Order: sequence, then C-alpha cells, then structure tokens
Amino acid sequence: MKIKVRTNRDADSYTVEIRAGIIGEVGSVLKSRLSAEKVALLTNDKVHSLYGDSLTGSLKKAGLDSTLILVRDGERYKNVRTYDHVIDSLVAARADRHTFLVALGGGVIGDLGGFAAATYMRGIAVVHIPTTLVAQIDSSIGGKVAIDHRRAKNLMGSFYNPSLVLTDPEILSTLSGKDFLNGLLEAVKTGLVCRRDLFTLIAGNLDRILARDESLLRQLIVRCVREKVRIVEKDPFDHDLRMILNFGHTVGHALETNRAYRSISHGEAVGLGMLLAVRLSSSLGYLAKTRASEISEHLVGLIKPDDLRKVDPDGIWETMTLDKKGKDGRVRFVLLKDIGKPIIREVGKRSFLKAMREL
Ligand code: NAD
Ligand code: GLY
Repeated sequence: MKIKVRTNRDADSYTVEIRAGIIGEVGSVLKSRLSAEKVALLTNDKVHSLYGDSLTGSLKKAGLDSTLILVRDGERYKNVRTYDHVIDSLVAARADRHTFLVALGGGVIGDLGGFAAATYMRGIAVVHIPTTLVAQIDSSIGGKVAIDHRRAKNLMGSFYNPSLVLTDPEILSTLSGKDFLNGLLEAVKTGLVCRRDLFTLIAGNLDRILARDESLLRQLIVRCVREKVRIVEKDPFDHDLRMILNFGHTVGHALETNRAYRSISHGEAVGLGMLLAVRLSSSLGYLAKTRASEISEHLVGLIKPDDLRKVDPDGIWETMTLDKKGKDGRVRFVLLKDIGKPIIREVGKRSFLKAMREL
C-alpha cells in the first residue's frame, strides 16, 4: 500500500509505503526510486542488532556505498551531543549533498536523523524506516524533526520532510510490550482527536491489538497514517489544525523533561497527559462528565494514573510555560468537546492546578 503525502511544493511530495517484508528490499527501492548511490545509515545499537545486518546486506546487494552511524539507545540521547556525533560521522564519511541519510529506528532515531539531515550542508535527503508503532503511525510522517534540551523537549528542530517512508509492519513483532503500548497510546490519541470510529476500533478490539493480530495491526497503522497525512497536508507547519495532534503532549512533554528524559517513555507521558486533558476538558465545562469518565476508563486500562498524582504540579506548570505551546504565562491545551471534536484553549495556572487536584 502506498500513501502519497502532498506538500506545498510538488517536488517535495513523498510516499509512505506500507508493506510486510519491505525492510529486506531497502537497497533496491532506494536505488530504483531515488537513484541513490551513497547512504549514511543511522540507527541505535538495539535496532542494529535486530535489523542492521539485513539492511546493510540489502544496501550492499544493490551496490550502494554505505556508512553506518550508531548512536546509543534512548530518549536521553536525543540531544545536542548525539547530534554532534552524527554530524562528525557524516563528515568522516565524506557525506555530500547527494548522500541519503536513512533513519532506521523509532521516533528518537527519526527525529534525530531528520534534524541532522535538515541541517547538514543545509539539507540532505532523509529516508525514514520507522521500526516502532509510534514511528510508523506518527513520527515518520509530517516532517517534524528535533532534539531535546534539558529544559524543554524538542526545543531545537525544524520541519523537514523525508524523501520516502518505508514501513514494515512485521518489524513490530520484536517490539517490547511497553513500547508497543506506547504506540497504541498515540493511536488512541489519533482516535480521540480525529475520529470516533478509530477510537472505537481500538477500544473494542484491545485484546486482539495487544496480541498484535496481523490484520488488525495493519488496519490500525493504515488508518492512523491516513489521518496524520490528512492533517499534515492541510497544515504542514502546525499553525492550526495540526495542533490537535498535540493532545496530551502539553503535560506529557513537561513530564518527560522534568524526569530528565529517563524513567518515563514518551507514550506513557502522553497517556498521562491525555488523562489530565480529559479532566481539564470536563472541569472547564467543554466535555460531558459521562463522556470524560468513558474515555478515562479506557485510558486508565493502559497507563498508571498514580504516576500523575506523584508529580509536583508547580514544576510541571513551570516547564510547560517554556514549551513551544506556552504564551504569556498561559499554556495552550488541546481539549475535547467530544470524541473526534477537539478544541484548543489557553489555560491559566489555577484551572490546571484544580484539574491536577481532582485526578
Ligand atoms: P524510541 O525511538 O526510543 O523507541 C523505543 C524503544 O524501542 C527503543 O529502545 C528502541 O531501540 C526500541 N526499538 C525500536 N524499534 C524496535 C523493534 N522493531 N524491535 C525492538 N525494539 C525496537 O521511542 P518511540 O516511542 O519510537 O518514539 C518516541 C520519540 O518520538 C520521542 O522522542 C517523541 O518526541 C518522538 N515523536 C515525534 C513525533 C514527530 O512528529 N516527529 C511524533 C511522535 C513522537
Ligand atoms: N506528533 C505531532 C505532530 O506531528 O504534529
């Protein structure tokens, strides 16, 4: 299945190709579709141990000249030091403007690789091979690339579209249960802000999805990708519509930053952020209490709400005001009027603290 993503410049439009087994064909696909000759393969040690050999083998088979750039695994390495290492490695490999950076990994590798590609020599092509559910349904599409700062997440970044996204659902079979759940929470987010029937698909088939039923998983990936594509085509630079994809991220990013990008994953943090956003939506009178309870019940089955009760609300507020979503001491939240009906509102500290107390 090929899904085209139209950008505001026709020449930059790209395709998301979703196909089981495509990981073994990357070399020939890069050669035939992009006329690639030189590749810098960026991945982390864990993904490399699983898929590095088959990918390098496929590049070699296609006669592509490739260099491997390995970084350490984890959000805490999505920072300026690792970025510097990637740039150093590109220089050492004599990468030039014809080199394709291939980012093989989850959202961390995609965001980091995309940012390195966007800035090295003012821009070289990047191809995403997303290997987590988060990356397949969300981060590989739409061109947001970034690295974290110790005071705020994704603080240094850009919008930089890939030349191609190659998505192999089979790769998800090696994902840990926790990392799979992180992706599922992003899928729940997509359902909550985009379409009730997507939310219902997940809520009504949770066991089969968690068991990674092949056809359901593929359906879930395709539907989430379509929603994301629809949104980023309409609002590529996050001016209005795209902001709805930040549902749960306002608090989520602050939780990650305040834990120094350790001991809480992006998905968990977003899950907790969604719970708080639902509470806020109801306490501010936008969302009916019964609907809020229904959504919260589903979320509580996937996250540990107690983690949110343990945090210092003032510290979270302070970090949120440094985020891209803050303005004049108020913080922009994506809230819900109903499932599939998001609204964006600036929220003051008092309302936020009240919602935190009511959790
Ligand atoms: P991640 O990249 O850290 O991957 C999670 C874990 O899974 C890592 O340990 C990784 O090594 C491992 N892994 C990856 N593929 C695997 C596989 N096939 N089998 C086994 N293990 C595998 O985290 P993530 O959840 O993929 O992504 C989170 C990041 O994505 C955050 O930095 C977040 O900010 C970013 N993000 C960006 C966007 C965007 O639009 N750019 C959207 C959503 C999330
Ligand atoms: N993941 C949020 C966005 O792409 O806008």
